[in-house]
Amino acid sequence: MTAQVREIALLGEPVLRKIASLVTVDTTKQAMQTANDLLVSLEGTNGVGLAAPQIFESLRMMVVASKPTKRYPTAPQMEPIIMINPNFTPLSNDMEKDWEGCLSIPGIRGKVPRYRSIGIDFTDLAGQRIEMELTGFVARIFQHEYDHLEGLVYLDRIENNQDIISEAVFLNL
Ligand code: NI
Repeated sequence: MTAQVREIALLGEPVLRKIASLVTVDTTKQAMQTANDLLVSLEGTNGVGLAAPQIFESLRMMVVASKPTKRYPTAPQMEPIIMINPNFTPLSNDMEKDWEGCLSIPGIRGKVPRYRSIGIDFTDLAGQRIEMELTGFVARIFQHEYDHLEGLVYLDRIENNQDIISEAVFLNL
């Protein structure tokens, strides 16, 4: 199985608006290929996560790969984690608004409210069910990628159009 850098689906592609299917024994092989393709497709971008629908695979799987960025210099550097059939529950109603971008929506950034602290579970590549608690930036990445599995993008969560700005302006904030 060779991993391929895949084309990224851009906003307007119907695959980004579908509810993705659970990975099952019947789709395990497709899921393994998709996992490898997600990892190599994210490499070499400035992204910190990628969901399967963004590479035209309507499966419930995603990669979370926090790393320090200009906006989040203290973000943890982590090995990319492939999460299969992920779920989450907020650990409190506490939300915070901060900037997000998306490889499927080039050129802009938006301020998005997200739960600050969440409990998650997912199946890893070895087939183990994993439970974790996430806070802050990594919790934000998770919720952004999870939305892609539900046919949502971050623009759907923006409270005010004035919270959307061009990436060029964002990079000079
Ligand atoms: Ni995205």
